[in-house]
Amino acid sequence: MSSISKIEKNSSYLKIIWNDGEESKFNFMWLRDNCPTAHDKDSRHRMFNILSVSTKINPKKYSVNKDGKLEIEWSEGNHISLYDSKWLRDNCYTIKNKKEYVSPYELWDNSLQNNLDSVKINCKEIMDSDEGLIKWLKLLHHKGIAIIENAPVEDKSGFKILNRISHTRETFFKTPFEVINIPKPNNSAYSAHALRNHMDLPWFENPPGYQFLHCLINSATGGDSSAVDAFAVADYLKKNEKDVFDILVSVPLKFRDKDYTQEAVRSVYGTAISLTKDGDYNDIRYSIATLDALDCHPDIMEKVYKAHHRFGNLLHDKKFQINFRLKPGDIFCFNNRRLLHGRTEFDPASGKRHLQGYYIDRDEIIGRLNYLKN
Ligand code: OGA
Ligand code: ZN
Repeated sequence: MSSISKIEKNSSYLKIIWNDGEESKFNFMWLRDNCPTAHDKDSRHRMFNILSVSTKINPKKYSVNKDGKLEIEWSEGNHISLYDSKWLRDNCYTIKNKKEYVSPYELWDNSLQNNLDSVKINCKEIMDSDEGLIKWLKLLHHKGIAIIENAPVEDKSGFKILNRISHTRETFFKTPFEVINIPKPNNSAYSAHALRNHMDLPWFENPPGYQFLHCLINSATGGDSSAVDAFAVADYLKKNEKDVFDILVSVPLKFRDKDYTQEAVRSVYGTAISLTKDGDYNDIRYSIATLDALDCHPDIMEKVYKAHHRFGNLLHDKKFQINFRLKPGDIFCFNNRRLLHGRTEFDPASGKRHLQGYYIDRDEIIGRLNYLKN
């Protein structure tokens, strides 16, 4: 347990020297804003208003009290704050900013094919224990893929399983969406055609974070599944073809949906690859089927198309793609903004094929995992 050895006051921060020699800077306004009394105990919203003090606020007196807490008497507002040393250490932004970023993502390529059992999980495990639920959430968050086995095959039975995580994300395709071969489909998934590797709904400003394809019947010839970790492909480009990568992260592409059933034309710009504040992979936006007529500057159209072409080829390359066949009771679960998924053509005359699809936002997956891990 680290304790405070020494405190020094500077012009805008307190420097805390810890018993293990670490040093932390704590800005005065930051400290006042994060006083333990600042928050409501139920909503955990900040009730204190930083605008009620000036930007000149500073500790009039400061010390470590007999319980080892940092005690500050403020220059304004007639207030004394008491900070737990463990809280200060855990939330120290000096130390946090020195640490090297570690990605939560475990990137994979075709070698996952020989180890597909490592992403499988039994439905009963998820339903019966929080350990099972955590295992499922970890697969989703770290690997971006999980295949649930032995789920029931009744209509809409996916809800009960997904609700172990949270509510589903609604779209105009309804929940669940019925992946069956129908006449005049408003989405190519609702045909018997092959689907190239794609993500769903890239033409939304915020495409669904996760997708769940629950196999109820798969007795037709064909209709085998494919998946690719597009973060792994992006990483390959970053390391080996930086010029292509740079275009994919910087030039917004255009996606649209204007299917004949809709009284709306949905259109959005987004880069094929987007990054987080730490430079990690955030989102992929890729779909041959719903890419709109691009309108980027004529001087860059050639290189944008070449980059799109190269990315697409790698996203279908044997080196990266895995192939498998869903059986009734399987739920293929994946990060829709990281993995691309596809299927081979099937023959509707040879037998029936029926999947039910669901979406859940990424906030729900990560939020639930954060909660259960503690
Ligand atoms: C979809 C889809 C895959 C399949 O419905 O979005 O990609 O195997 N379906 O039918
Ligand atoms: Zn799809």
